[in-house]
Order: sequence, then C-alpha cells, then structure tokens
Amino acid sequence: MPSPIFKKIEIDLVVKKAVDFYKMSSKNEIYVKSNKKKFTIYGDEEQLYRVFINLLKNSEDSILERKEKDKLFKGKINIEINQNNHYINLLLIDNGVGINDISKIMTPYFTTKKEGTGLGLPIVSKIINEHKGEFTISNNNPGVKVLIIFPQIN
Ligand SMILES: Nc1ncnc2c1ncn2[C@@H]1O[C@H](COP(=O)(O)OP(=O)(O)OP(=O)(O)O)[C@@H](O)[C@H]1O
Ligand SMILES: [Mg+2]
Repeated sequence: MPSPIFKKIEIDLVVKKAVDFYKMSSKNEIYVKSNKKKFTIYGDEEQLYRVFINLLKNSEDSILERKEKDKLFKGKINIEINQNNHYINLLLIDNGVGINDISKIMTPYFTTKKEGTGLGLPIVSKIINEHKGEFTISNNNPGVKVLIIFPQIN
C-alpha cells in the first residue's frame, strides 16, 4: 500500500461518505452521531475512506450472518464521533454475531468467510497506525465494538 498523503481533512465527512455508500444497499439501520460539527485531522482521505468501508463491510457481513438464523432480526450499526481534549474518538458498534477467534482476526489472511480475503482488518490497522491513531476491536455481546482514536489538530 502506498504511503499516506497527509492533508487537512474532516474525518466526519469521510465517515459519512462511507456510510452513504452502504446506505444505498443496506437493510440495516446505520446511525452517525457526533458532539460537534467539524472534526479536523491530518489524514489521507482515500485511505481512511477504505478504513470505514472495510469496517462497515465487516459489520454488514456479521449482521447478515445473524439474519440467516433469524429473518426478522433488526441489524444496527451505530457510529459516534466525539472530541475530548486533543483526541477524536470514533466508536463503531454493531449488533452482529460477534467474534469467536478474537486473537486471530488481525492475522493477514485469517477469515471465517467463504469469499473473504482476511486482509480487511490488517489494512485498517496499518492505515490507522500510519495516521498515528489507535485501533481496538472487541466483542460487545452481542456484536462488536471498534474504537479508533486520532490526534486532533486545530
Ligand atoms: N464486525 C465484526 N463482527 C464479527 N466478526 C468480525 C467483525 N469484523 C471482523 N470479524 C472477523 O474477523 C475476520 C477477519 O476480518 P477481515 O476484515 O480482516 O477479513 P474478512 O472480512 O474475513 O475478509 P474481507 O475483509 O476481504 O471481506 C472475519 O472473517 C470475521 O470472522
Ligand atoms: Mg473484512
């Protein structure tokens, strides 16, 4: 993957663009909530868009898996963007099936899907690291919680 090209960008707009992409086809509720209007960071817009596409795809897939067992299940993905002090926190929570092998999911090519590459999360993690951000993913029972923390700029 090429090195990121850093520019002043509004990360909330990048998130919303990825959410809008999924809203075209998703049957799930996807919400974005934030505690102010603008969240500016130095980042590579294209690469960060890819981050949110990868994460939303994982959430959509996991909800789909749940729906295979329960057709009426209501899928939800909630995203919150908040700023406190010098950090921007991005929280994504889905109510999908959750993760079994949590210790393996960051290993390249590890996948539980028929057509998965197993590269989605390693790419997410690499991009976030190169942006000096922090990335954590955990079970939220039910579902999954992803937290990304970016340093904020003025
Ligand atoms: N939100 C999630 N809910 C449940 N399981 C998840 C979630 N995100 C990741 N996983 C698990 O982690 C594995 C690895 O994810 P990763 O995004 O790296 O690859 P993938 O999704 O399998 O393949 P691809 O990204 O190419 O579609 C997935 O196969 C899945 O088992
Ligand atoms: Mg994936």
